[in-house]
Amino acid sequence: MAKKKTIIDFRKMVAEGQKIVYLTGYDYLTAKYEERAGIDMILVGDSLGNVILGHDSTFPVTMEDMIMHCKAVRRGAPNTFVVGDMPFMSYQLSDEEAVANAGRFVKEAAMDCVKLEGVNEAAISRIRAIADAGMLVMGHIGLTPQFSAQMGGNKAQGKSAEAALKLVEAAKKIEEAGACSILVEGVPAAVGKAITEQAGIPILGIGAGSYCDGQLLIFADMVGYFDDFTPKFVKKYGDVGGELLRSFTAYAEEVRNGTFPDDSIHSYKIKADEVEALEKSLKEK
Ligand code: KIV
Repeated sequence: MAKKKTIIDFRKMVAEGQKIVYLTGYDYLTAKYEERAGIDMILVGDSLGNVILGHDSTFPVTMEDMIMHCKAVRRGAPNTFVVGDMPFMSYQLSDEEAVANAGRFVKEAAMDCVKLEGVNEAAISRIRAIADAGMLVMGHIGLTPQFSAQMGGNKAQGKSAEAALKLVEAAKKIEEAGACSILVEGVPAAVGKAITEQAGIPILGIGAGSYCDGQLLIFADMVGYFDDFTPKFVKKYGDVGGELLRSFTAYAEEVRNGTFPDDSIHSYKIKADEVEALEKSLKEK
């Protein structure tokens, strides 16, 4: 069994030019397969609002939802670095509340790190407070769904030189505040490259080009499971949705036509004399 990677290992991987493989996970079973596949880092993202709970955004996701899913992922992947995503309104109000909620991810769900969105002064202050309390915290910049109202929707960011420069500067401030890493989402590849080149901490990208130190995808997108919408940057490596549909349809057909269960295979055994005794007692009743 591979040893759990630490932030020191991730820094070493970056220094040696090895890419970090990052994937979301939300439950025990998926996390177990991710660990078996040697995924370096799992994000229990608030994207679970969309892909697991069926909301149309991440806003309704609560701390209780996150803690429950983080615990399940930890049980499935005990030897993987797991990041818990701080949901909307779990860190916005104050540094104190941010530290208390980050602490819940660590104490109750054994998370290795927490992640929070934003480039503004409040986000930087929260990152500093969480890092000062001794926890690992990952920034999240670019397309930040918790700021979708201010961005006018979930749109790619950093598409002008001015906007891109602001992101490079924000990444620097987040690093200085004590973040261990930054996730950059939904920016042109050239902007992902500029941020990565300027940074002294691992830069992970989702829809931020190939230059970043590592890549993240949402597991349900890349295995062909979630099909409500598919962002441009997703590559599908499987057809889990198609496989589920084939299996469910075949099962329904076999139950309806009596092919399943086959008692010679899918049933428990009983000795013939026990059946005879049962039939005799039923007749005598
Ligand atoms: O919640 C999540 O999975 C995320 C990614 C979309 C970046 O934050």
